[in-house]
Amino acid sequence: MTTQTKIAVVTGSNRGLGYAISRKLAQNGIHVVLTSRNETDGLAAKQQLSGEGLDINHHVLDVNSDTSVTQFTQWLQQTYGKVDILVNNAGINPTATPEESSLLTVRLETMQATFNTNILAVLRISQALIPLMKLNNYGRIVNVSTEMASLHTMGSDYYPLAPSYRLSKVGINGLTILLARELQNENILVNTYSPGWMKTDMGGENAPFTAEEGAETAVYLATLPDGGAQGQFFAEMRKFGGPIQLQW
Ligand SMILES: NC(=O)c1ccc[n+]([C@@H]2O[C@H](COP(=O)([O-])OP(=O)(O)OC[C@H]3O[C@@H](n4cnc5c(N)ncnc54)[C@H](OP(=O)(O)O)[C@@H]3O)[C@@H](O)[C@H]2O)c1
Repeated sequence: MTTQTKIAVVTGSNRGLGYAISRKLAQNGIHVVLTSRNETDGLAAKQQLSGEGLDINHHVLDVNSDTSVTQFTQWLQQTYGKVDILVNNAGINPTATPEESSLLTVRLETMQATFNTNILAVLRISQALIPLMKLNNYGRIVNVSTEMASLHTMGSDYYPLAPSYRLSKVGINGLTILLARELQNENILVNTYSPGWMKTDMGGENAPFTAEEGAETAVYLATLPDGGAQGQFFAEMRKFGGPIQLQW
């Protein structure tokens, strides 16, 4: 690793999409800090990727915990003195039961828990790490959303209602727009994207695509050139053969 090497943080990267994004970023010469709320799971994932010859470090990070985020930020500052890339990947989708699948019956506790992880935690970690990006006048923030959050099609699409999940991802899309607006005079680009339906623990066996395919757009957005896209909503590149913007 040289002083020019980019440092990337990926939240929730012990499995699923976050793991695939970590691998692809590292394959692109980026030093990746793989993070997990469970230390054993994260170390096992790190070991796996290090075994592939990739440049990976690991640190515990529970995005819902102020203490965990503070400790992690201090460690980053001491270890690297900067952060270049943040991928806000960690997320939950607790819509398994019929009760949780309807806005008429979903428990408010479920809504709160989903909003905590899928929106507020993104704000928490962004607030903590953006000062480390500003130190170097460089930053790329990639927020993982979903096509299911597109207001343009929400009234008529064929996806499950999944109210806590979809509304939380509408929130992350709005957060992306506002954060990009606040950072418009900085070299910190903030974008959001839909990785598509993938075979992960969340997506299940029947999903048509792999997490590796879903990771492609994250890498594209994490490595945007200066002056690149700011505050935009992208589709999965694999489906369209290139970076395509989605309607909000
Ligand atoms: N799968 C799909 O088809 C699909 C489609 C569109 C969008 N997405 C989005 O893609 C992202 C990743 O999804 P996935 O399919 O990879 O899901 P997944 O397989 O369920 O993995 C979720 C990851 O998030 C972590 N996580 C959850 N809460 C956390 C917390 N408080 N702190 C730190 N990490 C936490 C999990 O850690 P643990 O292992 O400790 O639980 C796990 O590593 C999510 O934002 C999801 O909404 C997925």
